[in-house]
Amino acid sequence: MFRLLAPLLLLSAVSLHSALAFTPVVSIMSHPHNSTHEFIASSYVKYLEAGGARAMRIPFNANVTTIDTIVKNTNGILFMGGEPSLPPTASYMYGTILAQYDLQDPMTMIPMWGTCLGFEWIAQCHAGLSVLSSGFDAENITLPLTFTADAISSRMYTSSPTDLLTLLANNNVTMNNHEGGVTPVEFEATMADEFTLLSTNVDRQGMEFVSSYEHRMYPIYGTQYHPEKSMFEYGAQADPADLGYEVIDHSPEGTRYSFELASFLVAEARKTGARFDRASGLKTIMEENDGFGAGTSFEQYIFFKV
Ligand SMILES: *[C@@H]1O[C@H](CO)[C@@H](O)[C@H](O)[C@H]1NC(C)=O
Ligand SMILES: *[C@@H]1O[C@H](CO)[C@@H](O)[C@H](O)[C@H]1NC(C)=O
Ligand SMILES: *[C@@H]1O[C@H](CO)[C@@H](O)[C@H](O)[C@H]1NC(C)=O
Ligand SMILES: *[C@@H]1O[C@H](CO)[C@@H](O)[C@H](O)[C@H]1NC(C)=O
Repeated sequence: MFRLLAPLLLLSAVSLHSALAFTPVVSIMSHPHNSTHEFIASSYVKYLEAGGARAMRIPFNANVTTIDTIVKNTNGILFMGGEPSLPPTASYMYGTILAQYDLQDPMTMIPMWGTCLGFEWIAQCHAGLSVLSSGFDAENITLPLTFTADAISSRMYTSSPTDLLTLLANNNVTMNNHEGGVTPVEFEATMADEFTLLSTNVDRQGMEFVSSYEHRMYPIYGTQYHPEKSMFEYGAQADPADLGYEVIDHSPEGTRYSFELASFLVAEARKTGARFDRASGLKTIMEENDGFGAGTSFEQYIFFKV
């Protein structure tokens, strides 16, 4: 009787506490859609939610006042994949957060994560626009990672209960969808001063590209591949065979790594000090959006008034 009861009591006390704990807010920059609307792919929002965060939008053309308000109310930043060139808003945001980092104060260490185009933007924020090369033949291709020796002491790949180094080295789960990229040679020349190269891959033509990095001291992370897709993009071809629209891996290994990286980013966000203040006028994406649309590469779009 006692042996049963004691753990039960302990459990209910613990879950009551965590249900009342704060929920971090991670901000995603929306991309232009048309003259009246911007969009965010739902998969990025779901990805953050899977990790335990709410998502807020950073308008693509936000002014400095708005960005400063967002920075005060956010626990993390995610630059998503897509098409547009690095906007001044993204470099301003990157610079503002970098300037507030204080290694003595975990509350200031707002994580910044870039996926695909976002990975390229962060590289450009650090190393200048010319850090990017183009012409990679790496769209719609799902690959195992080739880790560098430094990956074993990385934060990104060693913080989760799952052995991501083994999982990602042995399974074709990381989905690439890019023509732009950073070569390891360019990384060595312009980024290695502050960033650690964690993994590389080769495209269909044998051209090598950086597939992930992290900052040596600060919580800044980039993956050229798309961790959110394995859990949250299920677009299908319009054929009777019901094949995937793209080669996105939905195996247990694929969804596991996707979840672990989402949890990792949100765990970093939880350590920071901002507390979302509704008096600022900001809203979460689920509150602010102006509707949803269906697609294939992105199964669902979330629209916002410009
Ligand atoms: C822009 O796209 C949104 C969402 O699809 C749509 O509601 C809106 O009417 C479009 N605006 C124009 C000017 O086409
Ligand atoms: C910045 O943008 C916000 C939101 O659109 C607007 O309310 C505010 O007036 C703008 N501030 C400046 C200084 O332009
Ligand atoms: C998995 O990746 C390897 C190494 O890049 C590649 O040779 C192989 O074709 C891929 N397999 C599948 C099923 O995509
Ligand atoms: C992605 O690759 C798969 C397998 O080669 C193919 O069936 C599919 O049509 C491709 N999707 C796109 C959008 O190119």
